Amino acid sequence: MGILDTKVALVTGGARGIGREIALKLASEGAHVAFTDIRLEGAADEVMNLIRAKGVRTTAIQSDVRSLSEAQNTIDTVVKEYQHIDILVNNAGITRDNLIMRMSEDEWDSVIAINLKGTFNFCKAASRQMLGQRQGKIVNIASIVGVMGNAGQVNYSASKAGVIGITKTLAKEFASRNIQVNAVAPGFIDTEMTQKLTPQQREALMNAIPMKRIATPEEIANVVLFLASPAASYITGQVINVDGGLVM
Ligand SMILES: NC(=O)c1ccc[n+]([C@@H]2O[C@H](COP(=O)([O-])OP(=O)(O)OC[C@H]3O[C@@H](n4cnc5c(N)ncnc54)[C@H](O)[C@@H]3O)[C@@H](O)[C@H]2O)c1
Repeated sequence: MGILDTKVALVTGGARGIGREIALKLASEGAHVAFTDIRLEGAADEVMNLIRAKGVRTTAIQSDVRSLSEAQNTIDTVVKEYQHIDILVNNAGITRDNLIMRMSEDEWDSVIAINLKGTFNFCKAASRQMLGQRQGKIVNIASIVGVMGNAGQVNYSASKAGVIGITKTLAKEFASRNIQVNAVAPGFIDTEMTQKLTPQQREALMNAIPMKRIATPEEIANVVLFLASPAASYITGQVINVDGGLVM
């Protein structure tokens, strides 16, 4: 028995990193978990096997968050298979870092298209179903750099500040329909995304983080689980920083 028994969740970008950990965490509490990724290769099979081992159903859907029609097809597939969708986690995201003087138009556009428009696409696509059901939980994965900014990440920090704007706006639009919309803002988490950091960047970060360590993906998944669960029944429009005290 888990706190999400019979619930149906969809996680974007679930084949690896934080999304994978979120998918496994929701499954371990009894939710059936569908997940998307832009490419489904060996990693997706492994995630599916790990989810099934928890005694719940799973579906992997190849889908690019940049496309509204692909988002709508994904939601339709999930609803056809499971009849409802209770939890949407907008997790897919990328970085393309550069100082603004060197940042190309493509670096700006690609980050905005995936991180910001991708979140809009899936919120929009899921909204009809969730409004009809008169219940749902949306958890958007933002970032603390969307709150505090970060040199070299004008595209990424703008996209994540935008995700926070989407979160607060949809929380207001959907509150009367029993749909809660919240965001988790991770600090620095040990995934492929942060393996690109140079040793110097890593050391500077450790010095800035009061807890003096990088987080595990599971530490983010735990907070997503809380927001997706009945334990967070009176919380909406909030951004929870999970960052070892970096932003206070
Ligand atoms: N790692 C960190 O330190 C950190 C910090 C703050 C926020 N975040 C956020 O957490 C989320 C997950 O990051 P991660 O560290 O696990 O990254 P990751 O690169 O390990 O995983 C991201 C996943 O998203 C998928 N993806 C990329 N583009 C896609 C697209 N167009 N459509 C569908 N899927 C796509 C990738 O294939 C991958 O599976 C992102 O939104 C990221 O911005 C990460």
